[in-house]
Amino acid sequence: MTDAEKEQSARSDAAAAPAVDTAPPELDIPPECIVKQGGDWMLVAPVPPSLQDAAARYSVAQRATLNRIVGLPEVREELIGNRLRPDRICIALVGGKVAGLISYRMDGEGSVWPDPARYRKHFGPVGGTVRYMLTEATLRRGHPDELYLEGFKVDPIARGRGIGTSLLHWLGDEVVRRGKKAWRTEASITADAAMHVYKSVGAKIVKTISIGPLGYVFDRHKMVVLRWEPPATEGNMH
Ligand SMILES: CC(C)(COP(=O)(O)OP(=O)(O)OC[C@H]1O[C@@H](n2cnc3c(N)ncnc32)[C@H](O)[C@@H]1OP(=O)(O)O)[C@@H](O)C(=O)NCCC(=O)NCCS
Repeated sequence: MTDAEKEQSARSDAAAAPAVDTAPPELDIPPECIVKQGGDWMLVAPVPPSLQDAAARYSVAQRATLNRIVGLPEVREELIGNRLRPDRICIALVGGKVAGLISYRMDGEGSVWPDPARYRKHFGPVGGTVRYMLTEATLRRGHPDELYLEGFKVDPIARGRGIGTSLLHWLGDEVVRRGKKAWRTEASITADAAMHVYKSVGAKIVKTISIGPLGYVFDRHKMVVLRWEPPATEGNMH
């Protein structure tokens, strides 16, 4: 096999491989991007270029609402999993793979941001524009003086080891670093583990929202708005 053939074969192997969110263990993560380390896990922010694709794909995979607007998961990945704000997301690597994240919006800009041209290319000029606008409408939330927590997830195999709590501590540090007053999010009261960790770091329920019959369809009959402010008397770094 010539060198060119070998390269071509390696490329098609890579294309045939499933789009897994792996970070090869030998991946060189700059020390300044390592936020915290546990046994076989670490939190990484900002996300270095070598991990941005995996982080974007993982982030997009968590967004259930987008599934309804955009359709199949692979379409979502193709349309949105290609762009990431590496500075608004912290990922958890467990055994070298992306296995959790926390991400936020600030002034309407989120951890992933959709590209209208890709929508139009995939769905046509009208359908693409409508779906793009719907996507933006569901993503664009937040107060100017707060961070809006938009994605928070730890894979089931990695839960219960303090990763979720550490991700929330990172978000708290971001509030201070960005000079904001608080972070805010919405959660279903049925998300027991999430409600537990939100409250354990000091987030307060500021509002309860019933979203009517539709809420039952999506198993979200009662939502709460949670808000976290940096404690006034304590150091804010973790
Ligand atoms: C919420 C989530 C990110 C927490 O991640 P994690 O890494 O397990 O978090 P931690 O290990 O730091 O803490 C988990 C805490 O939840 C508690 N917990 C776990 N399951 C629980 C349940 N069903 N009900 C109440 N508390 C629960 C654990 O006991 C632990 O509390 P402790 O430290 O006081 O013992 C994870 O459970 C998750 O991804 N859930 C699904 C996605 C989700 O709901 N996201 C939030 C959307 S609003």
